[in-house]
Amino acid sequence: MLTNSFSVNEKGHLTLGGADTVELAKEYGTPLYVFDENDIRNNCRQFKDAFSKYYGGNARVYYASKAFSCKEMYRIVKDEGICTDVVSGGELYTALAAGFLAEKIGFHGNNKTPDELKYALQNKVGRIIVDNMTELYLLNEIAKEMNTHQDILFRIKPGIDCHTHEYIQTGQIDCKFGFALENGEAYEAVKAVANMQNLSLAGIHCHIGSQIFETVPFIDAADIMVSFAKTISEELGVTVSEINFGGGFGIKYTLEDKPVSKDESIKILCGAVKEACQKYAFPHPTLCIEPGRSIVGASSLTLYTVGSIKEIKGIRNYVAVDGGMSDNPRYALYQAEYEAVVANKADKPRDFIATIAGKCCESGDLIQEHTQIQQVQQGDILAVLATGAYNYSMASNYNRIPRPAAVMVKDGNSRVIINRETYEDLVKKDV
Ligand code: LLP
Repeated sequence: MLTNSFSVNEKGHLTLGGADTVELAKEYGTPLYVFDENDIRNNCRQFKDAFSKYYGGNARVYYASKAFSCKEMYRIVKDEGICTDVVSGGELYTALAAGFLAEKIGFHGNNKTPDELKYALQNKVGRIIVDNMTELYLLNEIAKEMNTHQDILFRIKPGIDCHTHEYIQTGQIDCKFGFALENGEAYEAVKAVANMQNLSLAGIHCHIGSQIFETVPFIDAADIMVSFAKTISEELGVTVSEINFGGGFGIKYTLEDKPVSKDESIKILCGAVKEACQKYAFPHPTLCIEPGRSIVGASSLTLYTVGSIKEIKGIRNYVAVDGGMSDNPRYALYQAEYEAVVANKADKPRDFIATIAGKCCESGDLIQEHTQIQQVQQGDILAVLATGAYNYSMASNYNRIPRPAAVMVKDGNSRVIINRETYEDLVKKDV
């Protein structure tokens, strides 16, 4: 199994967090997203504990809520005492509506609108991560008009190439996010903020990519970021007391995936930062990270009901489910790999090769191609594992398919955290 949250019970049914997934499908209907609360909490704790162990706790963990944003998710991470990162007015609104303290929120985005910036200032978010010069001047103007003051970080492109899908690489110069180091953009931004009375530079930020299994890019990032912090402190007299290394820690989507543990990732990051601080004679900064996928992604699944099956001799076997790219666009976008299990036959061998298709009017609407599942029939419940991150948050109403419900499971008990959309919801905004 992918994580300890998954198991098979005496009925041969797949369980998650102690709950029988076939029963969940019966009770709540399909498609259905299911999350294991204990695992989410555990993930938050593992990051926090690792920072205590390897960095004396001078660190903050921000849950990158773009991975999965809903009120209950913010309540859980808030309860675990970690911060959150938001990337739009909508995520900020949801976090605040869930009672998240504004000072524990970092606000990201490469094109925050004037309204979003005002909204963030009004609510006094802890950090705004400034992405570009246009935004820097705009934010300063708005802060001046509102007679307020804001702590910011600069998002830096450290020029690092990591081996992940090109759509989710973000550290290299040809990327829409952040200030480049190579061409002096970042340096100019630091110079500019020094003269802005309504903004203070609390620190610098980078995010090199997502679903990363290597540790070297993080070590390189530590060196580059500390070196830059030293340069601007020496040459411009600017104090950088905080460095945020973003997210990107990879998770296990398939049985072959071998992600680095959270403890090990943080140990390596802290070690690299300390080493760089020694190399450049720079004081240890507050360390921040923004894990999304690695908090919510792995111990979760989507349940579907199997509909039509087309065995095309010599070609492939299509197994169609009652969802698709509308609830999980990741295969269509990134050829993302997943494990799938027939939940009501989870104790049987996976000896049938299937292409799992959705119900959208689109040939590319596939969840997985040529994947091994159990012998399957119409009416079976199919589970696609590790769908907690970037599934609900990237879901759409293509073909006017209502978004599925989401359920949180804890010690075998379940509760709805997002209601299933209805047909009425779909027409609510129509005139
Ligand atoms: N911080 C920043 C500034 C980010 O841009 C991201 C992700 C994260 C943190 C969290 O990264 P994580 O720990 O989840 O890897 N939709 C894509 C992933 C896009 C990631 C965008 N930024 C996918 O489904 O794989």
